Order: sequence, then C-alpha cells, then structure tokens
Amino acid sequence: MPVITTIDDLRRMHKRRAPKMFYDYAESGSWTEQTFRENTSDFDLIRLRQRVAVNMSNRTTKSQMIGQDVAMPVALAPVGLTGMQCADGEIKAAKAAEKFGVPFTLSTMSICSIEDVAEHTSTPFWFQLYVMQDEEFVDNIIARAKNAGCSALVLTLDLQILGQRHKDLKNGLTAPPKLTIPTMINLATKWRWGLGMLQTKRRSFGNIVGHAKGVGDTSSLSSWTAEQFDLQLDWDKIAKLKEKWGGKLILKGILDVEDAKKAVEVGADAIIVSNHGGRQLDGALSAIRMLPSVVAAVGDKIEVHMDSGIRSGQDVLKALALGAKGTYIGRAFIYGLGAMGEEGVTKALEVIHKELDITMALCGRRDMETLDRDVLLVPKNFEGEWA
Ligand code: GLV
Repeated sequence: MPVITTIDDLRRMHKRRAPKMFYDYAESGSWTEQTFRENTSDFDLIRLRQRVAVNMSNRTTKSQMIGQDVAMPVALAPVGLTGMQCADGEIKAAKAAEKFGVPFTLSTMSICSIEDVAEHTSTPFWFQLYVMQDEEFVDNIIARAKNAGCSALVLTLDLQILGQRHKDLKNGLTAPPKLTIPTMINLATKWRWGLGMLQTKRRSFGNIVGHAKGVGDTSSLSSWTAEQFDLQLDWDKIAKLKEKWGGKLILKGILDVEDAKKAVEVGADAIIVSNHGGRQLDGALSAIRMLPSVVAAVGDKIEVHMDSGIRSGQDVLKALALGAKGTYIGRAFIYGLGAMGEEGVTKALEVIHKELDITMALCGRRDMETLDRDVLLVPKNFEGEWA
C-alpha cells in the first residue's frame, strides 16, 4: 500500500481504480477548461507570510458554518454521480464527514437517495437542490429533505443548463454505464469497482428516478438537465423556495457582486462564491479571485463561503484569510472516495486538516477566527482590473 500524504496521491489512485468515464467526469471543466485550470493556478499566485517566535500551542481548527459547529470550516461539496466513483459512495462520504465533524452535502444528482443517506448517518446533512420544471417534484423533494432532517438547503444557481464537458460526450457518460465495447474493455480492468457495484442495488439517480417523470434517458445527466431543469429560475422563485423550505438556505454559484447583493435581499443565510469547479461558464474568473470583492460588498451582511479549486489545507487557509467563513471540497474528497471508499474520504480530510493546522501555525496563528489578509502575500493586481 503506498503511503498517502497528499490529495494528488489520492487522485492518482482514483484514476487507476475508477472507470475512465467517472474519473473523467470528476476531472473535467467545461469547453477549454481555462476556468477549471485557473481555479487552482490562481491559488498558487497567493503566498504566505512566515512568522516566527509566536506561541503556537493550543491550536484549533474548530469553527462554525451557518451556526453549526465544524471540526474545520471545510464541508463536502455536492457532487453528482458520487455513488458511481465507488459503490454506495454518498453513504460512505457522509459517514466519513460525520465521523470527522464536517458537513456533508448530498447532490440532487446523487446515486444514493436522501433516505439512503439519512438511514446510514445520525448527524443531519445538507441537501443540494437543482430546481426542476416539475413543481410537484420540487415540493416533494423539499419535503423529503425535511423529513430526513437535513439542516440546510443548498440551492445551486449556476447550473440550470449544462456547460459542455467534451470528455463526457466522448465517453458516453451514463449511470449505470452502458456496456459498449470500449466501456467493457475499460471495466474489465476495474475489478475492485465492479465487485462493489455487484453488491449494491444503488446504481441510478436515486433521488429522481421513479420520482420525476418524463425524461427520455433516465441514466443520462445531460438528458435530465436538458429535459427537466427549470430555465425560468429567477429571484422570485428563489424567494418562494426559501419560504417552502423554511430552514437555513445557502445559495451556491454566486460569482458576481450584483448577484451577491440579490442573495442578501432574498434573505439567504450564506452564499457560496463558486464557478461550479470550472464546469459551467468557461472564461469566468476563478472563485478565489472573485472572493475578495464579494466579501467587501456583502461580507458584513451574509456568511460568505467559497468552493472551486481547493486541493489543500493551504488553499483553505488562503480562502479563509481572504474573508470566507467556510469552504467546500469536491474533487479533493472524490479522489479519496474513488481511491479507497470511506477510508479514502477520511484520508482526504486528514490530509487537508493537517496542512491547514501546520500552515496556520507557521503563519503565526492559532485559530480560524484570527486568520486575515495579514497572513498572506497577495500580488498587487491579483483581483485584476476588468472593465
Ligand atoms: C453537476 O451535477 C455537474 O456535473 O457539475
């Protein structure tokens, strides 16, 4: 067994162990992948200030996100098809998050259903909603999330229409995979994945197959989005959904100051500065580059979170120092899951926690609340002057 010390170790193992179409699904951005690449390379532009002779005993990474205690401000992001990276993937990831003490967010486009995850965990998780045209379905899934005790609704706003990811089209991405000759050849080398899948009944979109009607190919993410997602979603509808839900609401996919202000007006509890991991609008600025202006505009009125590009504890520290109150990892935990199931998700969280804790200490700080821009060296024109 190789010694795992970084998220990239998990990524390489994920690539070896999971079917190509699912690894590629996770590892893609849309079109040229410029935004996908810049989400990580922009983090690298920011450097850290080394401070010495500062008491570094009694450190803690504990904090809160939307008023909930977290072992570190790093939640698991909603990721579609998680249960295809590894059998029962959402249940395994939720269990790892629960044991670690960080929030788990279940995607609408998950393989394990809301009820499946609730049955296998005892800490409330968060549910991510994609708004569909079928209002009855939306009412119903909100009621299901409430019944399952979900403690926040994460409403995604940047994917009512799917950004094109070339690899998914070329691979013929479906859940479960259609057994074409190239797919069968690839699956023949993924025995560990196959054994897991043979032992579970959870192999299709558990939250929607059998609940939503009228889609041509129920195994295809692109068919669901194209045929079911509500293109008319607007701020009025968001306000109505907030009322229907009645609990904590997090708006995901905010990348513009004007939209952040609308989120405040609508009364959301938090926003996630995000470009969907570079999977939607290719050419948009990286989330870390947009974060400071959003924090400056609304940071005193609403809790600002961020995702897109975080692959290390150093990245988490940089986002917090630029004003985020919480962060999310998507790919970083998916690599762990595809590599080693629940144990791999735990490993990903341990790697990030250790990096965050030691980096914080070497920057001369001992807790999350005191992290500010002073621990960073940010290039002068980092945010850029865009007209
Ligand atoms: C969302 O479901 C995605 O594929 O990005």
